[in-house]
Order: sequence, then structure tokens, then C-alpha cells
Amino acid sequence: MPHWEDTLIGTSRSFLQVKGKIPLLSRSRATVLISGETGTGKELFARAIHYSSERCGKPFVPVNCAALPDHLVENELFGHSKGAFTGALVEKHGLFHEADGGTLFLDEINSLSLAAQSKLLRDPARSRV
Ligand SMILES: Nc1ncnc2c1ncn2[C@@H]1O[C@H](COP(=O)(O)OP(=O)(O)OP(=O)(O)O)[C@@H](O)[C@H]1O
Ligand SMILES: [Mg+2]
Repeated sequence: MPHWEDTLIGTSRSFLQVKGKIPLLSRSRATVLISGETGTGKELFARAIHYSSERCGKPFVPVNCAALPDHLVENELFGHSKGAFTGALVEKHGLFHEADGGTLFLDEINSLSLAAQSKLLRDPARSRV
């Protein structure tokens, strides 16, 4: 795998400014919001933050929020315990669990409904990432 610095190609001042923040961001466990025009490298930056961090040996889990129907968001992200609802025959780990110790990349998070976004905000401790 190439070094993360070499994956990010760009020479403009603003590009280099954001690139220069990666080492600082990767030392933090804080949530990072990456915004930008389509195809400008948002996922590439997310991967660079992950692979330059001490979490690099743990999973990087991308989730395409645009493909998650609203009624499945909570179940997909947080999972469920056995018997939580009719048909929940076995315990199912969610994506937060899968990414534990690594990075959960919520791609296209703006396409989640406000109700679904507020579920993420309500109890970030549940996420443990
Ligand atoms: N600055 C860059 N340096 C090198 N490759 C880049 C850069 N920006 C984008 N790319 C390449 O362009 C493609 C799109 O990048 P990426 O998926 O990270 O963009 P995005 O901002 O997430 O796009 P979208 O908004 O469509 O999801 C990838 O193949 C990526 O490798
Ligand atoms: Mg993207």
C-alpha cells in the first residue's frame, strides 16, 4: 500500500492546508466532518486519516448512508440483541461494533434523514469509536 501522503495529489494552497492537518486529526478520536464537491477526494482523505493513525491495524469500515433505508439505519449501525423484536433470532453486531478500535466512515451522511442523524448524535458513547 502506498504511503498515505502519496495518495493525495494536489498542489493548491487550500489542498495543502487540509493535507497538513491530517497528522493532527489522526492523533484524535474526535469525529471529523469532511465536506467538498463530488470527486474531490473526501474518501481518500478519510482513508489517509485512518491509515496514518495508530488505528491503522484495525478496520476501516465505509458505510454508504445513501443506500441505507431509514428504517434499517439503527439496526445496521448498532445491531440488535437476540429477541429484541420479532424475527431477531440471533444477536447481530452492528457496523459500529465492526469498526471498533478503527474508523467508521459514514459516507454521504447528508442523505440520512434528520431523525436518523439525531440517533447518531443522541448517544455517541454507544458507538465506542
Ligand atoms: N486529490 C486527489 N488525489 C488523488 N486522487 C484523487 C484525488 N481526488 C480524487 N481522487 C480520485 O478520484 C476518485 C474519487 O475520489 P473520492 O472517492 O475520494 O472522492 P469523493 O469526494 O468521496 O467523491 P464523491 O463525492 O463522488 O463521493 C478516486 O478514485 C480517488 O482516488
Ligand atoms: Mg465519496
